[in-house]
Amino acid sequence: MYRPAQRLADIEPFHVVELLTRARQLEAEGRDIIHMEVGEPDFPTPEPITNAAVNAIKSGKTKYTEALGLPELRQAISAFYHKRYGVSVPASRIAVTNGASGALNLAFACLADPGSEWLLTDPGYPCNRHILRTFDGRPQNIPVGPETNFQPTPELLRQHWKPSTAGLLVASPANPTGTLLTLAEIEALAEVCRENNGHFLVDEIYHGLTYEIDAPTACSAGDDIWVLNSFSKYFQMTGWRLGWMVIPEPYLRDVEKLAQNLTLCPSTPAQYGALAAFEPETIALLEIRRAEFRRRRDFLAPALEQIGFRVTARPEGAFYLYCDCSALADDSYTLAKDLLEKTGVAATPGLDFGSNEPEKYIRFAYTTDVARLAEAAERLSRYFGR
Ligand SMILES: Cc1ncc(COP(=O)(O)O)c(C=O)c1O
Repeated sequence: MYRPAQRLADIEPFHVVELLTRARQLEAEGRDIIHMEVGEPDFPTPEPITNAAVNAIKSGKTKYTEALGLPELRQAISAFYHKRYGVSVPASRIAVTNGASGALNLAFACLADPGSEWLLTDPGYPCNRHILRTFDGRPQNIPVGPETNFQPTPELLRQHWKPSTAGLLVASPANPTGTLLTLAEIEALAEVCRENNGHFLVDEIYHGLTYEIDAPTACSAGDDIWVLNSFSKYFQMTGWRLGWMVIPEPYLRDVEKLAQNLTLCPSTPAQYGALAAFEPETIALLEIRRAEFRRRRDFLAPALEQIGFRVTARPEGAFYLYCDCSALADDSYTLAKDLLEKTGVAATPGLDFGSNEPEKYIRFAYTTDVARLAEAAERLSRYFGR
């Protein structure tokens, strides 16, 4: 008997996985594939973090911790907010989670009533709508484009808000576009949420990976905002499965109860490793890598534009360029498949990020070094006969 829950019908796979499978097949046949579809840093986790985790394992720190995480790690995250953003976030409001994914699960488990509707940007991070669906909430798309830098505005929010709308989730910097919200923009969105008695969640997973300015944290815009973050991207710990969430005070006990039941606690060795993430020597290394990401972006954006891709939004952060490829092809999914076969360049088609003109866009991740990016640009130039 095969009878999965009805929600499974609404949960889609990542389309890029199909491309990835084909990329691996081609690699097995000896083809050289340039991976620009990957949404994780290519750098290894900094050594102070891995050393701290290994030492913790060797000294037997392998039992459960508190459900909301090690008190000293919550304290270290609180100190990080003070040092980096000059904002006071008490450790008691911080929950350590299983990545930003764990934070999203806990937030929606805590807030989403069956049938409640949640405003999400389209394009946006695809797992959001699936996590929401898992908790019987409903995604409500706000189509966003280059005219608003692929971010929602207060006007768009008012236009889309319905009586059944429970809240808004945004990301800054965003995936797939890398665009940022200013503090004034975050405050204006928060205001509309408050006017409507709605919740406001801000995903700051790409903080630290911004190249002109430091992204402002939504923690500065009110203590009623849910702020999600992760050790995955800036701290380059994707596989460690560790993140955190800043929770509005009234919900602390609710999230703690959920964490106790859903996960027991985040990984203990990963938490001990993360204690070294805020050490000056780790931050110094991460800042060197941040400069390298910037160098890659500054190389890749003009190189792609020269070929005929258009970078229509300001890619101020993350490690993605979301390019308009409509001058080059009718459908980005077909294009992505053909590029992989004929050039060995793997990229993610817009289809993975929503239903707002996905055929027009393709995402290139600069999670590979400049020499490989140059090779990719050369192959793409040849393919398009430039
Ligand atoms: C916008 C965004 N949020 C959340 C996540 C989840 O990341 P993790 O669970 O590794 O922290 C990702 C991963 O790519 C992402 O791009």
